[in-house]
Amino acid sequence: MRAVQITESDGVASLTVVTLPSPQGDGVLIDVAYSSLNFKDAMCVRPGSRVRRRTPLVGGVDAVGIVRVDPTGRFTPGMLVIASGGDIGTARDGGFATELLADPVTLTIAPDGLTARQAAICGTAGWTAMASLLALQQHGCRPDDGDILVTGATGGVGSFAIALLAHAGYRVVASTGSTEDHDWLHELGAHEIIGRDDISDNPDRVLATERWAGAIDCVGGQTLHQILRSLRYGGVVAASGLVAGADLSTTVYPFITRAVSLVGIDAVLAPAAQRQAVWELLRDVSRTLDFEQLTHHTVSLDGVAAALDELARGTVRGRVVVQP
Ligand SMILES: NC(=O)c1ccc[n+]([C@@H]2O[C@H](COP(=O)([O-])OP(=O)(O)OC[C@H]3O[C@@H](n4cnc5c(N)ncnc54)[C@H](OP(=O)(O)O)[C@@H]3O)[C@@H](O)[C@H]2O)c1
Repeated sequence: MRAVQITESDGVASLTVVTLPSPQGDGVLIDVAYSSLNFKDAMCVRPGSRVRRRTPLVGGVDAVGIVRVDPTGRFTPGMLVIASGGDIGTARDGGFATELLADPVTLTIAPDGLTARQAAICGTAGWTAMASLLALQQHGCRPDDGDILVTGATGGVGSFAIALLAHAGYRVVASTGSTEDHDWLHELGAHEIIGRDDISDNPDRVLATERWAGAIDCVGGQTLHQILRSLRYGGVVAASGLVAGADLSTTVYPFITRAVSLVGIDAVLAPAAQRQAVWELLRDVSRTLDFEQLTHHTVSLDGVAAALDELARGTVRGRVVVQP
């Protein structure tokens, strides 16, 4: 099979397209139709990465493909499946390859009507955005409650969150560091665009003006703190990421005086029933929302290294699909 392999030597990590024997061992053998680029993939190619747990490693934290062989009998040859989560592309060879040997617990049968390409455009980022929207809804956040903030707006999770929220009827405010992608963000459904530092006011007070009925945040750090102090009474933020930092320094006041909720979103160890339910919601939305508008471009295995470099430099908007 052909694959994009990460190696590291003398503190330098490299990505190379290599030819490897077909994977063998426990697991479901899949012919990969698509994979996609995610922030975690960029973390895996950093020298000394703590996300990547072995080297050499075939990268790619998700994949979509056709089952060729399943020794467990749970999946039928020819079935379209989505592989994501677990240790795919971090401790176990991942989706930047023509073949993938997947742990069955990381596989979801693609819902009827969702194409392989649509599933790949979503990938882990789109799944996370939909799981975040679901969390807001489960906490009672409705379209007429007020503005929903989306941070990291031009990224994979952020751009999907904007499109999904707008599609569901919410008024979306997009926070971005980009000055070039405002038209595109409006096209996705953002009603208003603000800068990364415009999330809250009253910096000298414990709490800011109540502004957001809800928020989908993949940025973390100080950004999440600013969201918490500017959520409206009873507001909710779904937090999935850490692009601005993993530390969260905040106060209890938003929780004990405004009854706000901070909900964690995890795509890695999400239970099978949740995975399936979120993919079914994405399939439902795919009937009326064109996922192609969320695609930055499609690359072959030979284009993965350059595309990951772009992602790390912040010059990608939306999703990069990999077609091995
Ligand atoms: N919990 C989970 O299971 C899960 C699943 C998927 C992703 N994630 C996490 O979610 C985060 C986003 O993933 P992604 O795939 O959407 O990444 P991405 O495509 O690289 O997007 C990240 C976006 O964050 C913004 N950003 C970048 N650096 C920033 C900084 N220093 N301060 C503030 N904003 C910054 C940029 O948007 P603007 O230029 O528009 O501001 C960028 O496009 C990552 O931390 C990832 O690990 C977690």
